[in-house]
Amino acid sequence: MKHLIDILDLSAEEIDELIAVANDIMENPQYYQEKCRYKKLATLFFEPSTRTRLSFEAAMLELGGSVLGFSEAASSSAAKGESVSDTIAVVGGYADIIAMRHPKEGAPLVAAMKSSVPIINAGDGGHNHPTQTLTDLLTIKREKGYFDGLTIGFCGDLKFGRTVHSLIAAMSRYANIRYVLISPEELKVPSYVKADHIKSKHIPYTQTTSIDSVIEELDVLYMTRVQRERFFNEEDYLRLKDSYILTLDKLKNAKEDLCILHPLPRVNEIATAVDDDPRACYFKQARYGKYIRMALILKMLEVC
Ligand code: CP
Repeated sequence: MKHLIDILDLSAEEIDELIAVANDIMENPQYYQEKCRYKKLATLFFEPSTRTRLSFEAAMLELGGSVLGFSEAASSSAAKGESVSDTIAVVGGYADIIAMRHPKEGAPLVAAMKSSVPIINAGDGGHNHPTQTLTDLLTIKREKGYFDGLTIGFCGDLKFGRTVHSLIAAMSRYANIRYVLISPEELKVPSYVKADHIKSKHIPYTQTTSIDSVIEELDVLYMTRVQRERFFNEEDYLRLKDSYILTLDKLKNAKEDLCILHPLPRVNEIATAVDDDPRACYFKQARYGKYIRMALILKMLEVC
């Protein structure tokens, strides 16, 4: 049995296969509509979510399966003090596969060690979010057509933004990648992410606090929200929350084929006027999340 805890649990070839299946599902949805008949997905969300939980549930329903679960820790027995391990040991008897989000880094790994069914990490604290990365990769592949040679700008909260950490890990496997890391000093990419996935692979990167000075270089711009829920004090959050607001004016010098991504939810970091710009891909990205999760469920349940 295989779990998905970290994006690097999947080889680049396996990711290519998932992207191919997701594209095929978009083309031929009827072919897949009964593939998971009698299978059940449990979504155990100890932290809030709109896209990840609902796209997982929509994915399983569109494969003909069923879903069960909870959307907040308060409505589960975690509120009575039950451990993650015990919860997983029990839910493994009710479902064939589990997607789990938890505020504690490493919780899905602990769950996987105890689980009798495949576990999917649907986001663990400020650590990783591998299925968002699959969504991002599908979007980049569809929008740009390739991964090699891209210059990718990450902008915003690069410290707590788990989607950034997972996407850097994934993209660092491709050739001639370059990163532009745009953040306030306090919200830089953690040194372990840089050491493990950028420096160890000798990937060229620039760190800057200014988006204006680098926007013209980018092929992909990955905007992120400042992660209020990970801050220790509100004062710091309020000081940093509007560090970057992408506007049409700021895009004047950007490439015509720039691909603007955002894992969402957005707060203020992209002006709504940008939504109508053809370079804005973030709502498409959210839509693609369902298809790549359908492909992932099929793979993890070994349904052809
Ligand atoms: N991108 C993402 O993880 O969104 P949700 O928090 O709404 O699931």
